[in-house]
Amino acid sequence: MTTVFAPMSLQEKKIERLVERRASARLGGGEKRIEAQHAKGKLTARERLGKLLDAGSFEEFDMFVRHRCTDFGMDAQHFDGDGVVTGCGTIDGRPVYVFAQDFTVSGGSLSKTMAEKICKVMDMALRAGAPLIGLNDSGGARIQEGVDALAGYAEIFERNILSSGVIPQISAIMGPCAGGAVYSPALTDFTLMVKDTSYMFLTGPQVVKSVTGETVTQEELGGASVHSAKSGVAHFSAANEDEAIATLRELIGYLPQNNLSEAPAVPTEDPVSRVEDALNEVIPDNPNKAYDMYGVIGSIVDDGKFLEVQRQFARNIIVGFAHMGGRSVGIVANQPAVLAGVLDINASRKAARFVRFCDAFNIPLVTLVDVPGFLCGTQQEYGAIITNGAKLLYAYGEATVPKVTVTLRKSYGGAHIVMSCKQLRGDINYAWPSAQIAVMGAEGAINVLYAKELKADPARAEEVFAEKKTEYEELFSNPYRAAERGYIDDVIEPRNTRFRVIRALEFLQGKHQELPAKKHDNLPL
Ligand code: HXC
Repeated sequence: MTTVFAPMSLQEKKIERLVERRASARLGGGEKRIEAQHAKGKLTARERLGKLLDAGSFEEFDMFVRHRCTDFGMDAQHFDGDGVVTGCGTIDGRPVYVFAQDFTVSGGSLSKTMAEKICKVMDMALRAGAPLIGLNDSGGARIQEGVDALAGYAEIFERNILSSGVIPQISAIMGPCAGGAVYSPALTDFTLMVKDTSYMFLTGPQVVKSVTGETVTQEELGGASVHSAKSGVAHFSAANEDEAIATLRELIGYLPQNNLSEAPAVPTEDPVSRVEDALNEVIPDNPNKAYDMYGVIGSIVDDGKFLEVQRQFARNIIVGFAHMGGRSVGIVANQPAVLAGVLDINASRKAARFVRFCDAFNIPLVTLVDVPGFLCGTQQEYGAIITNGAKLLYAYGEATVPKVTVTLRKSYGGAHIVMSCKQLRGDINYAWPSAQIAVMGAEGAINVLYAKELKADPARAEEVFAEKKTEYEELFSNPYRAAERGYIDDVIEPRNTRFRVIRALEFLQGKHQELPAKKHDNLPL
């Protein structure tokens, strides 16, 4: 029996051409370059989007866009899509707009047309009020396009700025990100890096060597560990691409779609009324002894789940997202186990940016205070602890989201004010019975107040010191002086912290507070 094939109709031929062009575009720079990408332990742009977005949800735009450059033989090199995959999809059913640079096409370098594609999804994300996620893997400005590529970057930066505070913007660095290209991630809300395969720097090791004589590797100059622990440029660092993508999905789960909406509620089996007896034992009798604030956070949030932001940077303060009673909250907590939880330049910057993000996106703030003060010394003063500390003060003072604060132990001096005190429009301020709210700790205070007496009679100095210290502690090393004046709304039993905070947040749900009309503020930068 012979099979007779009918000739293809004109429409079938057209559809076949579409299928072919799609298949070719999906190959990016071709099989060989895909293999090279895999050999580096990296996924391709499409593979990354396939894992990031819900299965089958990706709608791709501009698959057939080609660059228009004719210099340096570029007219002979065309790849459909031009090195970036753009579109929209969903994460846990919620829309997000995405772009993923494709390193297999001209090293993911940014052409004018690539910039146009990215700008298109940025505009669409802003119009639709949906988060934007950029997966960066690029050799920077496409050298053959010169100033056109630079113009493209500027177009992207301007959109990052206009979208800031309107839709969440997240950057994942999945490969190189060098030169001025680093400024788009820096303008977004969160930057994530992948260990060993991603790096960010303004100028690479070769230029550094020729300008300063310093010999440094890419990893040492701008790898994930550097930006997570030293510079604070990266908010998250993942061991590999799968972990990176899982973190992006988790992060989106805590965020609203835009500044006019609320983060999605996440039902929990964890009872709101859960009491944690162990919390009554957390604070050591010795005020100079540390304890781990992570334990406190873990026992008050839903199911003990906490997505920490900037985990390795300025570890004396902890910031991150959790759910309480099913609702997203931003947690800010001093960490007594690191530098006694003191506020320094980096801790202030870290917490200020986080507080401002939460405020911009309607995420209530829960602040856990145990702070001995600001770090002193020339290093901090020369580095402008004054201006940097003021950032956190400013951030809390301007925030209009519900603010619930619990003082666990120390809350001294300027740091007391900065950490969401009542007069910075804190809504509900609780304290544990172990709280000490004062200008400074007992020992420091006695040394200042009784310096002359202690010096005048060295034989009795020890006795006088002990006597005055006891007097000071009775007066100030407790929460009651503050509670008597209404600076603290209630002194609560530590074991009840979870339900007291959740109840406070419930009562604050309808909160609406405005700032005076202005063009914009002048945050101490
Ligand atoms: C054009 C580029 C390119 C670029 C890489 N390619 N970067 N093409 N413009 N910026 C091409 C390569 O020629 C190569 O093409 C392919 O991409 C893969 O690159 P490789 O070098 O083979 O890959 P690898 O060894 O992994 O090295 C990656 C790299 C290196 C470290 C990124 O390519 C590199 O140093 N590129 C230049 C980086 C740079 O200086 N960019 C400008 C930064 S300044 P073939 O066809 O051979 O496979 C900047 C200003 C922005 O971006 C300012 C904004 C305000």
